[in-house]
Amino acid sequence: MKYFVLSLCAAISVVIPAMSQTGKESKTLVAYFSATGTTRQAAAKLAKEHKAVLWEIEAAEPYTAADLDWRNKQSRSSQEMQDEEARPTIKQCINIMPYDTIYVGYPIWWGICPRIINSWIDNNLEQLKDKTLIPFATSGGSDVRQSVEYLKKTYPSLHWEKGMLMK
Ligand SMILES: Cc1cc2nc3c(=O)[nH]c(=O)nc-3n(C[C@H](O)[C@H](O)[C@H](O)COP(=O)(O)O)c2cc1C
Repeated sequence: MKYFVLSLCAAISVVIPAMSQTGKESKTLVAYFSATGTTRQAAAKLAKEHKAVLWEIEAAEPYTAADLDWRNKQSRSSQEMQDEEARPTIKQCINIMPYDTIYVGYPIWWGICPRIINSWIDNNLEQLKDKTLIPFATSGGSDVRQSVEYLKKTYPSLHWEKGMLMK
């Protein structure tokens, strides 16, 4: 089933066009996940600064407030973060072929990136190999470094730049 979803994603990804906010083709993509809007704002700011295409990585099943309760070990986010193999399904894919540089944004969850970022990377792994990847994150206080180390360790074939913590 997982492989069916991944293949479907790869097939869909070739048909979704991506234009910058000015309508011109952009070589830079800002791809982000945001559960409550903070990372979305940071991503929009980055996209404006770099004249980049903005793309939200959305969960097929949106996260509810109960899903995001990190104090509850049974909540969806807690369950996913306790399971290294968890790969929440993404709603829609993007063709990343045209981009040289991709900013990858996420809220820090349990010190690292949410598992949906792994889903997005796994879906695009082959095409990501020749891109420059710049992680950025928002958090409640944690630094971005642990999450960048995690990404480097999990995806050693990708070119990760230093990460940025944004407000
Ligand atoms: C499940 C969950 C886990 C979190 N874990 C951390 C954490 O380990 N460190 C931290 O500083 N903030 C943590 N936060 C806070 C978020 O990183 C922070 O509120 C972030 O800016 C939310 O971004 P968003 O609005 O784009 O979802 C966590 C939030 C949630 C929902």
